Amino acid sequence: MMDEYIGFTKNIKTKLGIDLNLYKEAQMKRRLTSLRNKRGFTTFKTYFDAMNKEEVLLNEFVDRITINVSEFYRNPKRWFVLEREIVPLLLQNTNKLSIWSAACSTGEEPYSLAILLNEYFPKIDFQIIATDIDQNALEKAKQGVYSEQSLKELPTHLKTKYFTENHGLYAINSSLKDKIVFKKHNLLADSYPRNMDLIVCRNVLIYFTDPAKEIIYQNFSTALKSGGVLFVGSTEQIFSPGSYHLSLKDTFFYEKV
Ligand SMILES: C[S@@+](CC[C@H](N)C(=O)[O-])C[C@H]1O[C@@H](n2cnc3c(N)ncnc32)[C@H](O)[C@@H]1O
Repeated sequence: MMDEYIGFTKNIKTKLGIDLNLYKEAQMKRRLTSLRNKRGFTTFKTYFDAMNKEEVLLNEFVDRITINVSEFYRNPKRWFVLEREIVPLLLQNTNKLSIWSAACSTGEEPYSLAILLNEYFPKIDFQIIATDIDQNALEKAKQGVYSEQSLKELPTHLKTKYFTENHGLYAINSSLKDKIVFKKHNLLADSYPRNMDLIVCRNVLIYFTDPAKEIIYQNFSTALKSGGVLFVGSTEQIFSPGSYHLSLKDTFFYEKV
């Protein structure tokens, strides 16, 4: 029932500060209805009441809306372009980079950035802010311990150099952790940092409605320095970058003009 879902989205917004109406509806509703049914509730009202009483249900629900899948060097070719083309471009006028990994999930993306910079640009200084709406994902990111599977795209010599293996789990070296500040941030509600050289925001905008995306692109553009770059996911090309003062630099990289 349509009205029932609308009521539910209002309750969720009040409780969690997450506006489900800004996420593509058909997809989101399908995901949430199947979880609700799996837990044995026939209406969103009874499901919400139960979530209010049982933290486990609420956490599972947040998990379902956030979709935390990630990996190191996701779409590896793009990371090679970042290393060989984009970072050198950014370093033409500075030797200190401010970087934002937005919707960083469990940390694979900001740690990939830290590894790349440390390995190939050892003389420069950099600071990475890594944010996500999901506190549980951020806690995992701060621990920095990963399965072998999440490292499969990372070049082997980097895996050997930057991780310590223990019983099949890989812990990231603590020196890299100091370069990253993890913080909770909602892309659809919170204010954005400023003066960024590089913003990496990948594999989250696909879940949002077009009007929500437009606001986010505009905010990213404002958050970038002139000459700064936005790096998006490999299904997330921006259709009219010019309307946000962005121009295509390389596939999935946009420069602020
Ligand atoms: C599929 S992961 C992408 C992780 C990483 N960027 C990558 O490409 O591998 C999507 C992340 O977006 C986060 N997310 C969803 N809605 C968000 C919002 N409104 N603000 C910030 N992060 C959000 C989720 O919590 C999840 O961790």
